[in-house]
Amino acid sequence: MMYTKMSSQWLLWTFGAFLLALTVDAQLSTTFYSSSCRNLTARVDEIIRGHIRRDRTLAPSLLRLHFHDCFVRGCDASVLLNSPRGAQGEKDAIGNKDSLRGFEIIDDVKTKIEAMCPGVVSCADLLALSARDSMRAFGNITWSVPLGRRDGTVTSASEANSDLPPPFGTFSSLSAIFRRKGLTVKDMVILSGAHTVGTARCASMQTRLYSFSSANPTDPTLDPTFASQLKRQCPQGDNTTLIRNDQTKPTDTWDFNYYSNVLRSKGLFGSDDAMKRNPAARKIVLTQNKPGSPFSAEFAKAMEKMGRIGVLTSRQGQIRRTCTRTN
Ligand code: HEM
Ligand SMILES: *[C@@H]1O[C@H](CO)[C@@H](O)[C@H](O)[C@H]1NC(C)=O
Ligand SMILES: *[C@@H]1O[C@H](CO)[C@@H](O)[C@H](O)[C@H]1NC(C)=O
Ligand SMILES: *[C@@H]1O[C@H](CO)[C@@H](O)[C@H](O)[C@H]1NC(C)=O
Repeated sequence: MMYTKMSSQWLLWTFGAFLLALTVDAQLSTTFYSSSCRNLTARVDEIIRGHIRRDRTLAPSLLRLHFHDCFVRGCDASVLLNSPRGAQGEKDAIGNKDSLRGFEIIDDVKTKIEAMCPGVVSCADLLALSARDSMRAFGNITWSVPLGRRDGTVTSASEANSDLPPPFGTFSSLSAIFRRKGLTVKDMVILSGAHTVGTARCASMQTRLYSFSSANPTDPTLDPTFASQLKRQCPQGDNTTLIRNDQTKPTDTWDFNYYSNVLRSKGLFGSDDAMKRNPAARKIVLTQNKPGSPFSAEFAKAMEKMGRIGVLTSRQGQIRRTCTRTN
């Protein structure tokens, strides 16, 4: 009697655990906090709109921060962690150091949301929401952000150095990096369209303009007139001046100019030029670059997918109390 009762309870428990294991995989939902933190999304949107009103250049920076989070250990806010004592964290990685911006905006959002719903909302979700809300405030683009991510506890510069795509990457090396994150060539071409906004430091242009190879100090795939223009903006040795990703418009706006720049060899990076060096990718570039472009709708879909990379859910990870350190 005792034995059968025990074993049936055990069976039920195992079956329950089995069902949970089946559903634990990336169960994000836009209503995740609707009972635990009722007004979360409206509040984050309001805080972010305030910041973007003061400095709209933060919007592209927050978008990139979310991308760099997702590509290293999944979207788990690992990019926000300060480097552990005596070790190099993601903030020290080549693509991040002296380059990522917007950390203090996420800290501000976190402080205000902790005051409203203590210990409930992850830094990873706040970063995903802030990236979306800032670009929505920037103008002409938005996407859906399912929630329920939890925060990681590990940050490593060497992982970031191998998982983040380099600006000198070829089509095949870049597509391999995206494939490892579960993203297709189409996702890569569409997400790279983010380079229609924001800025780059002249540091990112030095090699392409002045020391590309011994035969060609300047990358020959750059349009020559554009290369001269870039050299005037970024003299040799200048690592700090910021230049616009898309130089064809008077104010920074969300549009599909990126693809026209790529086709005219006027993208800033070798990685931008790479998007037209493969027949399938080139076809996607051409499809974005015409009146009635599907770009914004495609970008929204790809962002939602990027936001699901390697997420921690359910009982994995933790809800950090402060985004810059583990609990
Ligand atoms: C295909 C691989 C990619 C490479 C090699 C790459 C590389 C870069 C580099 C080197 C910069 C300039 C950083 C600096 O000089 O400080 C930059 C800026 C930027 N990237 Fe990418 N990127 C890639 C894909 C993406 C993706 C997928 C997104 C977002 C979905 C993105 C969004 C941005 C934004 C918004 C900026 C401007 C940031 C700002 O204004 O602060 N990039 N990228
Ligand atoms: C939700 O937050 C928004 C923005 O902060 C505020 O305007 C609104 O009154 C809030 N609603 C509730 C029910 O608290
Ligand atoms: C710019 O950065 C490069 C690479 O880190 C370095 O070698 C160079 O000395 C820097 N230039 C200046 C003027 O700081
Ligand atoms: C908004 O985005 C679409 C698609 O990228 C573009 O066609 C349109 O010109 C943009 N509008 C503004 C005001 O920038």
